[in-house]
Amino acid sequence: MEFNFCINDVLPHRLNCIDGSMLPDSFESDDRQMIAECQQKVAIILDKIGVSSGIAQGLQTPVTSSDRLRNSDHKVYLLTNPDGDGGDGTVVGLLKIGHKKLYVFDAAGKHHELTPICVLDFYVHESMQRAGCGRMLYEHMLQAENINPEYLALDRPSEKLLGFLKKHYDLVHIIPQNNNFVVYDRFFSTNPDLLPGYKNSAKIDSSRAAGKSSFSITPASGRALVSRPVGAMDKAK
Ligand code: ACO
Repeated sequence: MEFNFCINDVLPHRLNCIDGSMLPDSFESDDRQMIAECQQKVAIILDKIGVSSGIAQGLQTPVTSSDRLRNSDHKVYLLTNPDGDGGDGTVVGLLKIGHKKLYVFDAAGKHHELTPICVLDFYVHESMQRAGCGRMLYEHMLQAENINPEYLALDRPSEKLLGFLKKHYDLVHIIPQNNNFVVYDRFFSTNPDLLPGYKNSAKIDSSRAAGKSSFSITPASGRALVSRPVGAMDKAK
């Protein structure tokens, strides 16, 4: 995806992370004009690739846009090709994540109120799909967030994403939910912190190597059934 400015000046690395500040993680300047210019270009990038992602998924409204990211606690990882567009660089893909408060069934049918990291949007430019770019983005995100793939919830995953997760992470067995999010059996079964007796409001932060997760559990009632309507906290995608 090409732009009428030099992508490499705005996104100097192949893998970049943008948060609600609308600045890449590599950005280093206190100069107000430079900050404003960079934020403006980041907004153009997000809006353009967000529209392409929405079209690729058949969505009426893009999930990723500058307006939706600005001042949010979500993050967008961007993959570039620095050699593209005659050396100005191109944007190859995006991966948007963020915490969401969800009601999630475990395999036994019990309901949990959780705030996992969710995959909200994932897109690789059509010209670059099935060439490992998605894997590169996903791996980078997993390392940056220090999380195992099974501990992520997926917001309305496409068949392509489900195939991607099966191929790269052997994620196959989905636990049916009453909302638009998908979690796999390993979301619960391999997570020692979700065994009976966990502490209320436990914030789980641990290393990927140790095979743990990174999300918070909020209910005082723990694993007991939640009485509020299923999917009440779901967002419209
Ligand atoms: N049909 C079926 N499976 C596919 C396809 C496809 N057209 N494209 C990718 N995959 C899956 C397959 O498992 C594939 O392996 P294979 O080629 O051996 O069959 C694997 O992904 C390829 O892995 P990568 O090359 O690392 O992934 P890629 O760079 O293609 O990125 C992505 C994957 C982001 C899903 C890309 O295909 C894409 O942008 N698709 C369109 C948008 C989309 O569906 N995004 C997910 C929306 S859901 C959400 O964001 C929560």
